[in-house]
Amino acid sequence: MASLATNLKKAIRDPWKAVLVMRERVLNGYVKLYNGLRGKPASPARPSGIAAFEEVRRYALRRSDINEHLPRLFVETLRVRPRLIVELGVRRGASTFVFERVAQLCEATLVSVDIEDCAEASDYPHWHFIQSDDVALAPRFPAWCAERNLPTQIDVLFIDTSHIYEHTVQEIDAWFPLLAPQALVFFHDTNQRLVYARDDKSIGQGWNNDRGVLRALEEYFDQSFNEQIDFAHVEPGWIIRHHARCSGLTILEKVNFGF
Ligand SMILES: C[S@@+](CC[C@H](N)C(=O)[O-])C[C@H]1O[C@@H](n2cnc3c(N)ncnc32)[C@H](O)[C@@H]1O
Repeated sequence: MASLATNLKKAIRDPWKAVLVMRERVLNGYVKLYNGLRGKPASPARPSGIAAFEEVRRYALRRSDINEHLPRLFVETLRVRPRLIVELGVRRGASTFVFERVAQLCEATLVSVDIEDCAEASDYPHWHFIQSDDVALAPRFPAWCAERNLPTQIDVLFIDTSHIYEHTVQEIDAWFPLLAPQALVFFHDTNQRLVYARDDKSIGQGWNNDRGVLRALEEYFDQSFNEQIDFAHVEPGWIIRHHARCSGLTILEKVNFGF
């Protein structure tokens, strides 16, 4: 551990960084204390009878920036009976854990993409991991699928990568043309902030992305959204639902209304 003198020298050299580090530590302590007083999240009341869903529910008891959305990702994805699920952003694989289970139930293919090596995230036999920048990959993705006899249109697209506005705009431009005529798109971190709240009344520590993901969606739909509350909205060809807690999850459903 760095000595007090070394830390003091660093703080004198770069006082702004020292303030940020201090803020991080104070916040971290506050979040731990607050959650400690709140206790553990309640276990789900009654088993569903679907083993894969129960695994997801148990997994979702571990608090994280996405845990409360995991059962929702499962249910929403199962509802569309996908053939091809594409996950952009794997890290330690919380969302992968959910998608591989739905994919197994639907005999679907799951393709996960990350700029880092996440090749150990799943052992589902129909899982493919591609280590790549997601925007760079998109133009060659249909050919990549065709070469492997996989469906070339995406039924479920999950986007959880940099959370930076410019990058999210590029992801929308690059990946939306690859969606099936009826498809589901999840964006995580559409309500990202320094301290975010969960439904179980606990809090988590995040970072301020300057509304990057939501701003990209606002631009795409030429609409402003209030990410701090849950909402449902309809646009030509799209149903939009937003869940504000746990850093925010926005679900876009591409639909043909026929009117
Ligand atoms: C928030 S984490 C994903 C969390 C994951 N979905 C989960 O539920 O555990 C973001 C991930 O996106 C990846 N990432 C960031 N920029 C990327 C890019 N341009 N292309 C592909 N992956 C990227 C990072 O390497 C990181 O693993």
